[in-house]
Amino acid sequence: MKVYVCKKCGNVILKLEDKTETLECCQQKMDLVTPNTVEASLEKHLPIYNVEENIINITVGDVIHPMSDEHYISFIILASDNDFIVKKFSSKDQPVASFAYNKEYTKIYAYCNLHGLWLTEIEKV
Ligand SMILES: [Fe+2]
Repeated sequence: MKVYVCKKCGNVILKLEDKTETLECCQQKMDLVTPNTVEASLEKHLPIYNVEENIINITVGDVIHPMSDEHYISFIILASDNDFIVKKFSSKDQPVASFAYNKEYTKIYAYCNLHGLWLTEIEKV
């Protein structure tokens, strides 16, 4: 899975198949987003998690990320090589989620509308 963003309008695309290199929006090339590359507070953007039996509880930020109309966490993705779960947020939500969990899941992504994509790898136990 790759994430692309339109710098002009803010559209975000989750690309499941990667057959062509370019995606376009607003008549310009969309940017491929690389996780953890924007200079911003790690403690407010890196997803943190704990696993309780078969449930994973995720929070965006050790210090919880602010949620306002101008600056918010737009979604969290829990991903394995073959499947993923997306939780979408509005600016009125808290950036927390709980999902059914199994050991196939290895990555947690969080997307901030201002600071891009953040990735935490789930440690193997
Ligand atoms: Fe942010």
